[in-house]
Amino acid sequence: MPEVFNWQLGRKMNYPYAERHPRSQFAFVFNINRCIACQTCTMACKSTWTFSKGQEYMWWNNVETKPYGGYPQSWDARLLNLLDTAHRTAGRNAQWDAGQRGGTERPYGVYEGMTIFEAAHSGAQRDQVAVGYEPSEEEWRSPNFYEDAATGSENVPEKLNMKPASLPAHGTWFFYLQRLCNHCTYPACLAACPRGAIYKRSEDGIVLIDQNRCRGYRKCVAQCPYKKPMFRATTRVSEKCIACYPRVEGKDPLTEGEPMETRCMAACVGKIRMQGLVQVSDDGNWKEDRYNPLYYLIKVEKVALPLYPQFGTEPNGYYIPPRWVPRPYLHQMFGPGVDEAIEKYSHPSRELLAVLALFRASQKIVFRYEIIEGAKIFERTINGKSWSMYNDTIVGFSKSGKEIARVSVEEPKYVRPDKHYNSI
Ligand code: SF4
Ligand code: SF4
Ligand code: SF4
Ligand code: F3S
Repeated sequence: MPEVFNWQLGRKMNYPYAERHPRSQFAFVFNINRCIACQTCTMACKSTWTFSKGQEYMWWNNVETKPYGGYPQSWDARLLNLLDTAHRTAGRNAQWDAGQRGGTERPYGVYEGMTIFEAAHSGAQRDQVAVGYEPSEEEWRSPNFYEDAATGSENVPEKLNMKPASLPAHGTWFFYLQRLCNHCTYPACLAACPRGAIYKRSEDGIVLIDQNRCRGYRKCVAQCPYKKPMFRATTRVSEKCIACYPRVEGKDPLTEGEPMETRCMAACVGKIRMQGLVQVSDDGNWKEDRYNPLYYLIKVEKVALPLYPQFGTEPNGYYIPPRWVPRPYLHQMFGPGVDEAIEKYSHPSRELLAVLALFRASQKIVFRYEIIEGAKIFERTINGKSWSMYNDTIVGFSKSGKEIARVSVEEPKYVRPDKHYNSI
């Protein structure tokens, strides 16, 4: 099996195809701390792409409550169990060596365990490309099972912890996890398909299923660790998130040729989502693009982390982890970068605060930002460190260099004229 370099794991890994990379890559950052689970994103996708017969159970975008929720039900717990079994059988540990952390090639250190590809190769699922499973019909039936269900307390699991909550970790907790296809750098769905019906576009890294080539073998469903390809019984082929590619290509008349964010991103009420395109070198590393907001959040500030990087597909969805959740749970889900990310988010730099204000400021994709410095407006001590807030203004530019957003850190106040005092 060829070897490819996975920067999220800080090492080479086995993958069925030789390394080849797109010129730029569709990527996104979700700030979990801000999501209110309104499901507007979910409905924006549903009402655009999956409202037809045979697509009833398809939720290409979904928002699930962790730790108990999941769509399909328990998808991640099942995958982690499979990986755990493979490690036990091989007598290995799925651990990270954070000591080897360094540069953009190993930002989280080195993963010393096995990915889903390597685990299949070493164990009982040798006939498969990756360890995985095909969910049952029951597991697909309830997209929001366990919504808002919190964990019990640490010592008495069946009872809620009634002590007052305080950081760094709440005794009773849950959080919302927003999910769609990660348009992975090394997609397991693509590797698994015996028909070669899945491809990754060279212009933007978007992963698509060719509806004419697909014969419904469902290996993609079984081996995508994130469970994002979905089989359609009426057509006997599988479908998945298409990253709203006509919008990303700038085909929507609203933006006059400028690349536009996807439906689920642009509709986000909580302003938790930012999506864009990052530039990729021939060796798979991201080209330095210091003032691209995604490059900044992921590579410079390292405040946004990949979901289950240990699976090995190099997912292109990144998350700012929730501040109140016990760290071991977050380490398992987002890898060893969690502590640094939470520390940076809790005590944000002047630049990070400005970039966070840019979320959902435009429907067009922001390719570059500039910051205009403003006055100091607030000062306090956070976790024993002094911290100041500045009312900086951040300006976002489109692909062609046009200004598309201008927002300040402090939101402006609008006072209603008296004549509207009691009217709507
Ligand atoms: Fe969360 Fe935004 Fe989706 Fe609402 S629209 S559920 S805030 S991600
Ligand atoms: Fe394929 Fe799954 Fe990755 Fe999407 S998330 S590209 S469906 S492996
Ligand atoms: Fe649906 Fe488009 Fe979002 Fe994909 S990117 S989940 S197709 S709205
Ligand atoms: Fe291939 Fe999945 Fe279709 S494995 S044939 S793309 S159902």
